[in-house]
Amino acid sequence: MFVGLDLGTSGLRALVIDDAQQVICAYEASYDTARPHPGWSEQAPADWTAACIAVFDQLRAGRPDLAAAIRGIGVSGHMHGATLLDKSGAVLRPCMMWNDTRSADQAARLDATPGFRDISGNIVFPGFTAPKLLWVAENEPDIFARTAHVHLPKDYLNFWLTGIHASDMSDSAGTSWLDVGARDWSPALLDASGMRRDQMPDLFEGTAPIGTLRPDIAARLGLSPGVIVAAGAGDNAAAACGIGALSQGQGFVSLGTSGVLLTGRDSYTPNAASAVHTFCHAVPGRWYQMGVILSATDSLNWLARTLDQSPAELAATLGPAIGGPGRLRFLPYLSGERTPHNDADLRGALIGLDIAHGPRDLVQAVIEGVSFALRDNLDALNSAGADLQSLIAIGGGAQSPYWVELIATLLDIPVSLPARGEFGAALGAARLGLCAATGAHPDTVMTRPAIAHTIHPRGDLRDAYMAAHAAFSQSYPAIKALQS
Ligand code: XUL
Repeated sequence: MFVGLDLGTSGLRALVIDDAQQVICAYEASYDTARPHPGWSEQAPADWTAACIAVFDQLRAGRPDLAAAIRGIGVSGHMHGATLLDKSGAVLRPCMMWNDTRSADQAARLDATPGFRDISGNIVFPGFTAPKLLWVAENEPDIFARTAHVHLPKDYLNFWLTGIHASDMSDSAGTSWLDVGARDWSPALLDASGMRRDQMPDLFEGTAPIGTLRPDIAARLGLSPGVIVAAGAGDNAAAACGIGALSQGQGFVSLGTSGVLLTGRDSYTPNAASAVHTFCHAVPGRWYQMGVILSATDSLNWLARTLDQSPAELAATLGPAIGGPGRLRFLPYLSGERTPHNDADLRGALIGLDIAHGPRDLVQAVIEGVSFALRDNLDALNSAGADLQSLIAIGGGAQSPYWVELIATLLDIPVSLPARGEFGAALGAARLGLCAATGAHPDTVMTRPAIAHTIHPRGDLRDAYMAAHAAFSQSYPAIKALQS
């Protein structure tokens, strides 16, 4: 048996698979995100470890026979967060999360510093880790001076599990300190950020074992101390492992809090100017590229809160099939945007409100706006030479057939839905745990799931939607000008 732990933005998911990768059971525990000031987004690492204890308590209660059979653990997590530890390993301040934009000024300064885009292969986005440390240096100098270790969120969980300071290539690629082509920390980028290599964890490929459980933690979780812990992965690389997207042309569209359009790459071909993210994959010798929009289902969640209904209820009002674009236009920049605009200060808009518009028009506009933004991401990926042939849809929004058909039509790519429920980052993490514990080759482990059905682009509506996308794209500079 192997366990995948996915440290998500709203909770921790534990997924148990057997040697044949059959899903045995899954458990979840949630935690909160604090937003004490505009743009801030923080979590307490103690909440992650408490959630880890909670999911293993549930596992032992639900399946008392399983714990003794667990041989490997893989952890995936939300990326880019800064978890700062002193030299004794104590947490110095709450983790600054991936969607924390307080360090936009610091990011712009690092981004303009020669070397960052060339060596890291990416824009220094405000959510990335390096600008957060510069913010701490400038605003919390006492904490900065005591920072002995910088961990990404899932690396902190791995440290708690094993006592080892380790990270994997896929997550480290999102710090702005990694030479993403060379798969190693960049002395030049660390130096330019006022950081030292000894503050960085040791680097492993995601499939590699970093060590075994600390005996006290093993006893608390009810596991054998010989359980192997993999280096793991950032959540997007883990999700790609979960759906078998390792190579060129294979990818996914994720409709989660953030929206991601991801493709595997067989070589390192960055194009930072396009605002595409180019990161190491969680398996050796491969990379991936993705466009990231910050508010995907988060846009629908916003509307659901506003209309006092659930997101699923709202999506259902549209019916199962698309019927052409609406006239109301929604720009989904509720928390700023990464790809393609790289603009933390940008905010969303509704354009063309009519006296006759009601809740259904708002829902359609929101789902269309998010989908248009994902089309922008495809254009950015194409400019980096990506060649997406097929996509698997994952994330909560993929439960809406309307939304998936709209994305297939706008991207002009067939979108498949997996047959069974477990194929995301938790499965990818479990697969990494399996590889680490058994030495199995990732190509034989990270296979494509069985497909329930494939939704094809609607050729009859494509021109109408592409015209609407063109109008959406023209709205951006106008809204930007109004907001600056
Ligand atoms: C990727 C990113 C998000 C987080 C949250 O760059 O910031 O996808 O990993 O899940």
